[in-house]
Amino acid sequence: MHFTPGQQWSLRNLGRGISRSAYAVSCGFFPYHWQKAVLDSHAKFKIIDGARQSGKSTIVSVVPAHKAKFKSRSLSLVIAPTRAQANEDMLKIKNLISKDPTYPSLTKNSAFEITLSNESRIVVVTATDKAARGYSAPDIILVDEASRVPDVVYSSAILPMQTASPDDFELILISTPFGKQGFFHDCWANSEVYQKFEIRAPWSVDERYPTRLFDPIPEERFRKDRAAHGIFGAYSPQHRSYEQQAEILRQQGTLIYAQEFLGEFVDRNDAVFRRADLDRAFFPEEYPTALDLAGDQSIIMPAPEALPLKKVAGGKYF
Ligand SMILES: Nc1ncnc2c1ncn2[C@@H]1O[C@H](COP(=O)(O)OP(=O)(O)O)[C@@H](O)[C@H]1O
Ligand SMILES: [Mg+2]
Repeated sequence: MHFTPGQQWSLRNLGRGISRSAYAVSCGFFPYHWQKAVLDSHAKFKIIDGARQSGKSTIVSVVPAHKAKFKSRSLSLVIAPTRAQANEDMLKIKNLISKDPTYPSLTKNSAFEITLSNESRIVVVTATDKAARGYSAPDIILVDEASRVPDVVYSSAILPMQTASPDDFELILISTPFGKQGFFHDCWANSEVYQKFEIRAPWSVDERYPTRLFDPIPEERFRKDRAAHGIFGAYSPQHRSYEQQAEILRQQGTLIYAQEFLGEFVDRNDAVFRRADLDRAFFPEEYPTALDLAGDQSIIMPAPEALPLKKVAGGKYF
């Protein structure tokens, strides 16, 4: 009997359940256009350069929840740079699962790992080389805030793990940028293996006009321009308020704004602030100090930047 490619695809997916975006909707979560594009993409390797608060973590919850439910004995691994972030990711996964009345029951339910009655596991780990290496042949690996994950985790844990993985293995790197350095930037800038998604606020900035948001280019043109570079581009629906974005720009300055909201890989040499200190000022839980991390030798600490901190109005450090 002959099947068209479309029929073959449907047959292959019989038993794997509904599409991930349809699954999200069935749990009462309506994905944005770009989230739907990520969820329903069949690319084995995906990389998302997305604005802070654009909805990236949502992908982190839907993908493993769907895999675990529809593929028995599967292993979904979520890697995050800090324990707090890993914990947060698991909470989002559990929150999604709680919206699905037909979800398999959990036979193990801890802060960092759940096991379903179909023997699937979802595990979230902090990105140390040691921790991430403890798992073999995962069905999917999601790396949240990948730009903050040490390179050694990518090279000696993530890459080797895929070799034993099944045909439908998927690796998704998700992050805001963090300078022109590390594997996240390298994969974004140089890899032809990854399908790329760029999700950003629509405006642009210019260092010479520190408080000014410049008019966006029309979204259609932006998308076409990105598509010409092989990238799926979208303006984030979460970042459409001019007033809100202008206030963030005023508080954080053009370099941070470009990095956190425009998806730009700002060269670290351009930075007149210590990035790590800035993170801690805003997210003390998520970004522990170098001292907190020093106990774990497997974490590579970023080189200390030379420039001193400046304290600005409001008590935040830049
Ligand atoms: N499709 C959506 N519809 C409505 N709100 C959304 C959607 N996706 C994300 N959000 C909201 O956007 C905010 C940021 O989402 P999150 O996934 O935590 O962002 P990120 O990981 O990119 O920082 C959250 O309040 C989340 O509920
Ligand atoms: Mg997130």
